[in-house]
Amino acid sequence: MRFPFKPLVAALAFTGTTTVTTAAPLFDSVTTFITHLTSPPNAAQHLDLTTPSTDPTGLNTLSSLSSSAKSVLQKNSAYLLLINATPFTLRKTGGHSYQMPVWDNSFPETVNPGQSVRVKIEAKTHRDDAGEMRYLLDIGEHGGGNGGGEIEFQYRGRNGPKLQVEWKSLAALGLPEGSIRVLDWHQENNVPFVLGAAPSAGNSSTTGQTSRPGTKFDPAKELVASPGLPTTGWMKQAYSRMHCLTLREMSLPGTHNSGMSLLTGGTALVKARPESVQCHASHMTVGKQLEAGARWFDIRPVIAGGKWATGHYTFFDGIKLPSGLDKIPGLGDLAKEIGKIGGGDKEKVLDGWQGGNGQLIADIVREVNDFTDKYPGELVIINLSHGLNTDTFSGNPKARLTQQEWENLMTELLAVKNRATHITMENIDLTYQRLSNLLPPSDPSKPNDLSRKSSVLFVVDDITTDNQHVNLSKFSKEGFFFRGQLAIFDSYANTNNLNNMITDQFSKLSTHRTKADDDMFLLSWTLTQPVETMITGSIVKYGEDANRALGEKLWANGAMSAQRFPNVVSVDALDEDGEVAGLVAGISWWLARECPAL
Ligand SMILES: *[C@@H]1O[C@H](CO)[C@@H](O)[C@H](O)[C@H]1NC(C)=O
Ligand SMILES: *[C@@H]1O[C@H](CO)[C@@H](O)[C@H](O)[C@H]1NC(C)=O
Ligand SMILES: *[C@@H]1O[C@H](CO)[C@@H](O)[C@H](O)[C@H]1NC(C)=O
Repeated sequence: MRFPFKPLVAALAFTGTTTVTTAAPLFDSVTTFITHLTSPPNAAQHLDLTTPSTDPTGLNTLSSLSSSAKSVLQKNSAYLLLINATPFTLRKTGGHSYQMPVWDNSFPETVNPGQSVRVKIEAKTHRDDAGEMRYLLDIGEHGGGNGGGEIEFQYRGRNGPKLQVEWKSLAALGLPEGSIRVLDWHQENNVPFVLGAAPSAGNSSTTGQTSRPGTKFDPAKELVASPGLPTTGWMKQAYSRMHCLTLREMSLPGTHNSGMSLLTGGTALVKARPESVQCHASHMTVGKQLEAGARWFDIRPVIAGGKWATGHYTFFDGIKLPSGLDKIPGLGDLAKEIGKIGGGDKEKVLDGWQGGNGQLIADIVREVNDFTDKYPGELVIINLSHGLNTDTFSGNPKARLTQQEWENLMTELLAVKNRATHITMENIDLTYQRLSNLLPPSDPSKPNDLSRKSSVLFVVDDITTDNQHVNLSKFSKEGFFFRGQLAIFDSYANTNNLNNMITDQFSKLSTHRTKADDDMFLLSWTLTQPVETMITGSIVKYGEDANRALGEKLWANGAMSAQRFPNVVSVDALDEDGEVAGLVAGISWWLARECPAL
């Protein structure tokens, strides 16, 4: 891909497709470059936040104050993003607070089915700050006449700031009555909490003539809550809800550049700045991503020193750096590396491949096997693309993998257990396959049983050194599928501006998803990094910023419908607590077509 404009911003388009950029001047001077660094274009303007920054001292001066002075000035504030993806109304039943400037009046009287609300919370910073607010999930007659049960949102200053949910007289899957679930605190930002259930749950009735006559809604089995969703087994838990859905009709949490949770090698420049290619926190390996609920993976295989790894590389066709860059204080090793690249030239040049390797393929194989062994009933889709042979880089912009190298890789991947070898029909379009077909029964003699095995599907979406699509014929019965077998729209926004990314992705979503069985749509919830990321920023930080906005924007009233929702939501910086997974899994519970009872 060539970028005809704005060469600098496009230059290190690391999170997108592998780019080739043309020679072009960077900033005219170091001064403009530094200005750009200190005020990056992606200020967090995404949220409907009115920044509560009436504090004239600003946070920076706080560190120099005594702790008592600090607590007068500092506030703990956040927004509870309360998403009611159930057919039942949430009704406020009462609360109480102590030393909370913003609490009681923030909570609305009711949150209607399908509605999402942002509740502002503000506390001082005292240990004994506290707030409680109870809501009744009004199940009415549908639970057999018991009317429903209560949850309570609680703020605690002690060991906090802490926002948590106590399941007072209501239960959900994995959350028994009496349990308390702490939510991750995001200062001055969204803290999502999703309740989800199937629409027909509102039709349960032990008496009347409805679509679920003779049944009663059982929250302990049919109500999901996130965070708190059992993310390791969320598909198994949802099987009776989702068994009839095709890939076009469900929604899966996914990760972008899934292997890049750590740096196992790379060019000198990137070794000095691992943050510039690392897309997930170091501990969020593919195995951890699976445990956190992700079911779609973007794996970019590279050969590095003869070994198979994942990689994240960009090819530069002579990018000029501003002279004097090495004099910027604090750049340390990076300045040295930049100096080396320029060969001591005044006009230093960023040339050839830059990037790094993440997890080794062998480690990913082991982690996937551990996961599918331990957690049956989960569907795992791995998209293999952007293959590169880093051992043949030396200025070669087309260091793709050969057909033989792809075959070697697939042979190594035969060590993945639970591959979808039961799908053997040639040229089958996977997107029309139902979950009950994608996950084989645990006992082959009981094809309709609820109990399913896990299943791993590989999609190979790349071309070889001969400009041919990778030929999969030798692996077609081994759980490997070609790109044409997975009709999916996948187009990233190529911007580091959150608002622009969101606008781009939602506009593509409404163009490409008008019916519930349109081609799959991948919502690419990622920001493409500008060159300054290489010098100061971090992809993970950008990703976290974007993920904070996900719940607010995706679940905004009217943003999605039963006809229009993404089938994959792909993120950087997947969180460990299952926030992203819950926001996406909730779609399959609330918006997807309903399946006949099993
Ligand atoms: C609820 O029941 C009514 C009447 O039987 C039916 O028209 C409606 O489609 C049902 N809704 C759901 C979500 O099942
Ligand atoms: C793929 O490879 C097989 C042999 O392994 C060959 O018979 C077939 O023609 C190839 N397909 C294409 C499209 O080149
Ligand atoms: C696989 O991932 C790459 C990189 O994100 C993307 O360009 C491609 O469309 C994906 N292919 C499929 C079949 O999902």
